[in-house]
Amino acid sequence: MVELSPSFLLEFETLDRDHQQLADIVNQIVQAIDDNEPEKCETLATHFVKSTKLHFAREEALLIKAGYPNVKKHQDHHKSLNSKMEHLLEFAKMAGENQLACDSLRKELVFFLMDDVITTDMEFKTFIEGKGVNGKA
Ligand SMILES: [Fe+2]
Ligand SMILES: [Fe+2]
Repeated sequence: MVELSPSFLLEFETLDRDHQQLADIVNQIVQAIDDNEPEKCETLATHFVKSTKLHFAREEALLIKAGYPNVKKHQDHHKSLNSKMEHLLEFAKMAGENQLACDSLRKELVFFLMDDVITTDMEFKTFIEGKGVNGKA
């Protein structure tokens, strides 16, 4: 199970809420695998990927609005994750019949969320804090 410790919070409500929602879906997938209900993985993973893409769009719009100077780099980073998301969906599709796919899905999903989605956002944490942008929108 993944848990977002305080060091992973941006202290920016809209984005922290999105990250928590993504972590909740990851935990539902891990739970489904642990409960030997891998057939649930495909629907959950599809939901995860859709939610992640929506989150990226929301985050990019917010960074543009706040005038974040490295927004292009962060957008490119988000774009570079498309193929990883495709792989996650493929593992999830196979999870019902294939233990290896389940193991890969669980491992890759947790890395994806923690390393690719959340840790890379720490790059702009100081910027949005310093900007005093209202995160309650
Ligand atoms: Fe991001
Ligand atoms: Fe994010």
